[in-house]
Amino acid sequence: MTQKLELYRCEICNNLVEIEHEGMGTLVCCNEDMHLVKENEAMPENAHFAHVEKKEHENGEKTITVKFNHVMNHEHHIEFIEAISKDKKYTKKKFLDENETPEMVFKCHCNEGFYIRLYCNKDGAWTTKTEI
Ligand SMILES: [Fe+2]
Repeated sequence: MTQKLELYRCEICNNLVEIEHEGMGTLVCCNEDMHLVKENEAMPENAHFAHVEKKEHENGEKTITVKFNHVMNHEHHIEFIEAISKDKKYTKKKFLDENETPEMVFKCHCNEGFYIRLYCNKDGAWTTKTEI
């Protein structure tokens, strides 16, 4: 059974899908079962670790900046960054082009607690626990 927000990849054509609604079936692409993308937890010295800054405004809103010290070239780059609330009710996602600065800035009134996930074209999915 799939779980909400899991990533599945086709190892033949590289299709990548994110689960929006859980189901009992097996995802198939190119006539093969798609593989669950394992999420690795990034440590601070790792290029896939999210450096998070939080700025609080008087109206209770917060500006969140998420940055990575990761190369961004054709062979190796971050494809997207996501902030996911711990209860999985809220997500914020930014898709990146190669050579683009690997960062995402967003505003929220969030108190739910978020974690950050990225998908690297070479190294797969990585998460960082944060205190947003
Ligand atoms: Fe990478």
